[in-house]
Amino acid sequence: MAKIKCPFKASEIPEGGAKCVELEGKKIAIFCYKGAYYALDDTCPHEGGPLSEGFLEEGEVECPWHGARFSLKTGEVLCGPATRGVRAYHCQKIGEDLEVEI
Ligand code: FES
Repeated sequence: MAKIKCPFKASEIPEGGAKCVELEGKKIAIFCYKGAYYALDDTCPHEGGPLSEGFLEEGEVECPWHGARFSLKTGEVLCGPATRGVRAYHCQKIGEDLEVEI
């Protein structure tokens, strides 16, 4: 596992928002929720919806395409139509930077 620095500052992600970034060839969605940062695979396992464009509520992200919900902390699927979760990565704010463990 390596710690990879995101090519943007933590402040570029608004509270309750997300940004998609490609790190080590993977599309990863970075979320800012209640002041903490979370990283999940961006691609919904149902039909490929972009989770970085989803809605955040109660520590979960809802896929913008058909509404599957995933835990921001673990990537576990909490509500279909997706039948499996997404990978979660440890994401840490260091100064103004964000580091993701991949
Ligand atoms: S693509 Fe995400 S719920 Fe269908």
